[in-house]
Amino acid sequence: MQIFRIKRNASEDFEESGLRRCLSAVDLTLLGIGAIIGTGIFVLTGIAAATLAGPAVVISFVFAGLACTFAALSYAELASCVGGCGSAYGYSYAAFGELAAWIIGWDLILEYGISVAAVANGWSGYFNNALEAIGIPLPTSLTHAPSLGGIINLPAAAIVLLLMVMLIIGVKESAKLNTVMVMVKLLTITVFVSLALFNIHPENWTPFMPFGWFGHNAEGKPIGILAGSSIVFFAYVGFDAVSTAAEEAHNPRRDIPIGIIGSLGFCTLVYILVAGLLTGAVPYGELNVSSPVAHALKLLGLNWASALVATGVIAGLTTVMLVLYYALTRIIFAMSRDGLLSPFFSTVNAKTQTPVRVIVLCGLAIAAVAGLVPLGELAELVNIGTLFAFVLVCLGVIVLRNTDPHMHRPFKTAANPLFPVLGILSCSALMVFLPTITWYRFIIWLALGLVVYFAYSMRHSKLALSRNE
Ligand code: ALA
Repeated sequence: MQIFRIKRNASEDFEESGLRRCLSAVDLTLLGIGAIIGTGIFVLTGIAAATLAGPAVVISFVFAGLACTFAALSYAELASCVGGCGSAYGYSYAAFGELAAWIIGWDLILEYGISVAAVANGWSGYFNNALEAIGIPLPTSLTHAPSLGGIINLPAAAIVLLLMVMLIIGVKESAKLNTVMVMVKLLTITVFVSLALFNIHPENWTPFMPFGWFGHNAEGKPIGILAGSSIVFFAYVGFDAVSTAAEEAHNPRRDIPIGIIGSLGFCTLVYILVAGLLTGAVPYGELNVSSPVAHALKLLGLNWASALVATGVIAGLTTVMLVLYYALTRIIFAMSRDGLLSPFFSTVNAKTQTPVRVIVLCGLAIAAVAGLVPLGELAELVNIGTLFAFVLVCLGVIVLRNTDPHMHRPFKTAANPLFPVLGILSCSALMVFLPTITWYRFIIWLALGLVVYFAYSMRHSKLALSRNE
């Protein structure tokens, strides 16, 4: 299995796209878990508990998980009936047409691109911790973005460049590599859970809701459980990446829904457990650090476990970046193949059988962002973009049920339109709790996308060209 590689050998099992159908439902679920469990639980839980929600960060996870569940059901329905070119981008093409597809595709570029940068920041936190532990710490100027008093977050930029090289080479047997790293990640969580269970101090859960449901801090930023949900939502980002592998799944109509719902359900349970134990083991105020899970174990006096967990997290975060980076290249590849972006981006390198140009351009841009912008700001931007995509996907289900009621739907979202509507409402609500500056940034990104669409994509899309023939 070679999920990060585009095969070009005609003797292999090809579909029209040139991508090989080699992923089963289990591979897809593991792909999902590989993309989902990462910086959100290992880093943002601590920051959200300490600054936004206190021990009630568990409730923040429940809310964010619910919003994702509604969206995941809609994703699963669209994956099962629209199939074909996967991802919300492909579904929007079917449900709404080209302009909406462009907007969502552009939005997904932001989601996946920035999330790789954000996770690289989380990775850097744990990596620096490990360097400190072995007595060779990097200077602050090389581990922090300029707005945090440094020059560049060098490890964050470096890991992105390393992954860029791996994706170019094609990473033989990369699904296996992914599986191994997912196992390491799950083992890491098991170690933490087992140790934390025996070190719970119930008094740490009081006060349970120190910041209440919703309020503002001295700088006017939203705080409380709901603001916590808007941030820890990042922990769920990635289950949708499963849908970008539709063209490489054995049986996308069956396997993609299983992969999406299976990985999301599993991760939700893990998050609730880890967040509850983390805030029960140490006072929430201690968790505003770049590697809170390892830090908590250190505070408990378990230095060996702290080092072990930090190592596991470093491996675990690498899979998140790998899958999200892969998803990003697939979205750009699909948009370019549809003529919405220049054909420059859908060229596959004959030697490596990978879309080298997209991989390199994305890698350089993401490395720059990862090195220069801090985690919190990146995560907020990812969340607003992802929530927006989820709203459109839920809307897509409602629209398609009306415009094409007889379409064959192997998987149907229950209680239609109730669940899609709840998805729209809950995801929109989480967007509301994000800071104003995040909204401005998001609107600027979308406006830039519209300029590109009207200046280039509209005239060059395959759809437009076929209309003119
Ligand atoms: N859900 C992924 C993470 O938490 C993006 O790192």
